[in-house]
Amino acid sequence: MIRILFVGDVVGRPGRDILCGRAATLRAELGLTFIVANGENAAAGSGITSAIVKQFCDAGIDAITLGDHVWDQRGFDAEIGGLERICRPANLPAAAPGRPWLLVERDGARLGVFTVLGRHFMPPRDCPFLAADRVLGELRAAGADVVLAEIHAEATSEKIAFGRYLDGRAAAVVGTHTHVPTADATVFPGGTGYITDVGMTGPYDSVLGREVQPVLHKFLDGLPRRFDVASGDVRLSGAIVEIDAATKRTASIRLVTIT
Ligand SMILES: [Fe+2]
Ligand SMILES: [Fe+2]
Repeated sequence: MIRILFVGDVVGRPGRDILCGRAATLRAELGLTFIVANGENAAAGSGITSAIVKQFCDAGIDAITLGDHVWDQRGFDAEIGGLERICRPANLPAAAPGRPWLLVERDGARLGVFTVLGRHFMPPRDCPFLAADRVLGELRAAGADVVLAEIHAEATSEKIAFGRYLDGRAAAVVGTHTHVPTADATVFPGGTGYITDVGMTGPYDSVLGREVQPVLHKFLDGLPRRFDVASGDVRLSGAIVEIDAATKRTASIRLVTIT
């Protein structure tokens, strides 16, 4: 059995602290083969830096994914090409720096990982469905045993349709970006584990990880404000996926919340 903990959008220092502080214990207690984390909000809530990538790798995170905030930290576009264990969204323009997928190996299992960005209520992108077709072919050629695909998107319909599109072709499809966990973890008929959103890893006494009052008052008066990362009720939110290594089908997928 290949057991994966996929960790939702890590937000700022509170998110980094709970992930890096718990990763080794969780790996041992849950018998995890791989830990994959979305780091798109890891640096003060927006983007990621090479120092944080190193911190995650030192904590034992096997693969780091990103989202629409991929380039928020100045200079990261020049650094990503030299970093291991991190991939940028696969349906960015082909000329974007960084690799569109990862192949990570542990305990004899080779896991392919990639992320696509959605297109509904988000800026225009290349088609995530066609990008996934291309990446799955490349991962198969590279020798991936199983594939974990991530859809980083706003619309539940787009995410579910994407999961159904990959049913039987990826072992699991996990959703991110909304920062709100959903109660729909399931295994599709073709054996693909699916959840629309695993939620964020960060402070839940917040609006999507940011302090409540500035966000609330922006809705009331429309004035621009700083949205600092909040601090209360920090949780690690993610999904645990168990994949049968022989059949490459997901045996179970469940949402996990760790406080
Ligand atoms: Fe996010
Ligand atoms: Fe996002």
